[in-house]
Formats: sequence, C-alpha cells, structure tokens
Amino acid sequence: MSFQALLFIALMGAQAVTAAYTLQDHCIGASFQNCFNFYSGDDPTHGFVKYVNQTDALSQGLYNVTGNNVFLNVDSKNRTPNGRPSLRLESKKLYNKGLFILDVLHMPSSTCGSWPAFWTYGTQNTWPTDGEIDIIEGIHDGTRNSMSLHTSSGCSITGTGSKGTVKTKNCYINAAGQISNVGCAIDDPSASSLGTPLNKAWGGIYAMQWTSSGIKMWFWPRDAIPYNLFGNSPEPNTWGTPTASFTGSGCDFNKHFVNHRIVFDTTFCGDSGNAVWASNPTCSKKAATCNDYVANNPSAFGDSYWRINYLKVFKE
Ligand SMILES: *[C@@H]1O[C@H](CO)[C@@H](O)[C@H](O)[C@H]1NC(C)=O
Ligand SMILES: *[C@@H]1O[C@H](CO)[C@@H](O)[C@H](O)[C@H]1NC(C)=O
Repeated sequence: MSFQALLFIALMGAQAVTAAYTLQDHCIGASFQNCFNFYSGDDPTHGFVKYVNQTDALSQGLYNVTGNNVFLNVDSKNRTPNGRPSLRLESKKLYNKGLFILDVLHMPSSTCGSWPAFWTYGTQNTWPTDGEIDIIEGIHDGTRNSMSLHTSSGCSITGTGSKGTVKTKNCYINAAGQISNVGCAIDDPSASSLGTPLNKAWGGIYAMQWTSSGIKMWFWPRDAIPYNLFGNSPEPNTWGTPTASFTGSGCDFNKHFVNHRIVFDTTFCGDSGNAVWASNPTCSKKAATCNDYVANNPSAFGDSYWRINYLKVFKE
C-alpha cells in the first residue's frame, strides 16, 4: 500500500472520531421555551400535583429565566389540598437516537414527598410500547440516582460495562420476578449523585447516548466534567466506562425505543412516592400519608426547583 493510501486511511479514521456528533438543539436561557411545551393535564403517574400551563407558570413565578439559567419551580407558599402546583415540560420535537447532554446546577432537593425526574418516552403509542428512558430520578429523601429503562416484553440487558450497581436486568415493566414497573435499573455508585448533595456541589453533567446497539449514561460532578464537553464536539469514546450501560443482544433497541419526547418534571407522591412512604423511616414520621405532607407543608418545597444551565441534543 502506498504512503498516500495509508495517510488517507489515517485521516479518514481521525475524521470519523472528530465528526461523530453534530449539535441539533441547544436549549438555554430565553430559548429554552422554544424546545418545550408546558404539559397541563393530569399526571399520568398519579402524583399529588397540579401541572400548570405556560401562562400560569410565568404569572405564578414557577418558570423563570435568570441570565442563561432556567428555573423550574414548584409552589412553596400555599397549602394545596388539591395537589401542589408544579411544571412538567415536554420537548416539542420527537427524537430517535442521539446524544443528550444536560448541564444542571440544581435539582429538586432530597425532600420527602417529591419525585423529580429528567427522562424521555415514546408518546405515539400506548406506554410503554415505544419505551421510556429515565436519566435522573429521585424519590423522597434519596441521594443516589437511579437510571432505568421501561419497555414492553422482550427487552433485557446484560448490565455489563457499568460503573453503577445493576439492580434489575429485564426492562419489561411486568417481568416475572421483578417488582411491577421497575424495568431494568442501574444505581449510580455515588451516594451523592442526586438531590441535596448534588446541589451543594453545584450539580454536574448527565449524558445519555442512545444508539441502535444500546443506551449509555454518564454522570460527572462539576469538578470532573470531560474537557470535550465544554465545546460542541462531544467525544463519548473518550469518556470511559459509563455510569450505566444498558446493552446486550436481549433487546432490539430500534424496536423498543421510538419517537421520544424529553421531559422535566417534579411531581409529588404518586405511583412511586406513595409506594415507599410507609417504609421510609424519615418520611413516614412526618405525616400519615405522602399527600397529607405535601398538601400541608409548603415551605418544605422551597428547594424543589431545577436550575438548568443547558440541554443540548446532538445527532450522529
Ligand atoms: C391556563 O390555565 C388556566 C387555569 O387552569 C386557564 O384559566 C387558562 O385559560 C389557561 N391558559 C391557556 C393559554 O391555556
Ligand atoms: C427564579 O426562581 C428561583 C428559584 O426559586 C428564585 O430563587 C429566583 O429569585 C427567581 N428569579 C426571578 C427573577 O423570579
């Protein structure tokens, strides 16, 4: 082989690495609203919440943009016997594969009653036919992030290649031998990857890479963010072992994950929160039921806000 041919191959190789991802959407500051709709229907997860529309969010101070940061607040002033006012934002666009990068400065604190999440799901068919990808999810006073996938039957992962602790491997919501709806789940190895301790460290970056061969997630605290995330040329192949790797031949990812919307929400109690209220030693002491606590203790939720630096979506 000639020197030119070798050089050509070497250059093509270098290009394949550097040109892997292109920025598709940049949701930040005032432009954040261009990426999202304010969902104001009933909570599909049965939370004790009142999702408000854009007009009410702005007039009640639940949504604000300060500098380039977007704040998603909940009501923390009023007793709310019919559910606590809060936001659920759903992306206007539908996504199939890509690289999703969230730089978050603050998320709802580790507070009894709250159930905040940053996630994606398929909205074109009955849930969970088109899948659900949970990137950040916290319940009550939890401080360790749990990442998970939820699907119809026929999708399971090996769980290998993750830094985190693999809790369940079958992503099917009604899998035998798993608690209903847990799906396949991997916990962050760090007990300060969520809520209050995360906020004390000024948050960090969560990345989700969705390809036809699987879904990988990384979390870095603010002092450990990879250098290539400071520009618009992320290089997942340099990031090392993912926090959570959902891969394996037991799932056809093209079939189980289709047309996803990105969601930020803060709900209260609901399917997941109610299920573990009584067994949570700290929370159950505060009130007989989760709803009672959320309705009657507005000031407990003063720190239940998201402060988002940016959300970027890249296409391969
Ligand atoms: C927003 O919600 C309020 C309260 O439910 C309602 O009165 C108002 O018409 C809604 N506004 C829009 C633009 O949908
Ligand atoms: C935006 O919301 C945050 C968090 O609740 C609050 O601290 C801040 O004062 C609000 N800013 C404006 C301009 O309303």
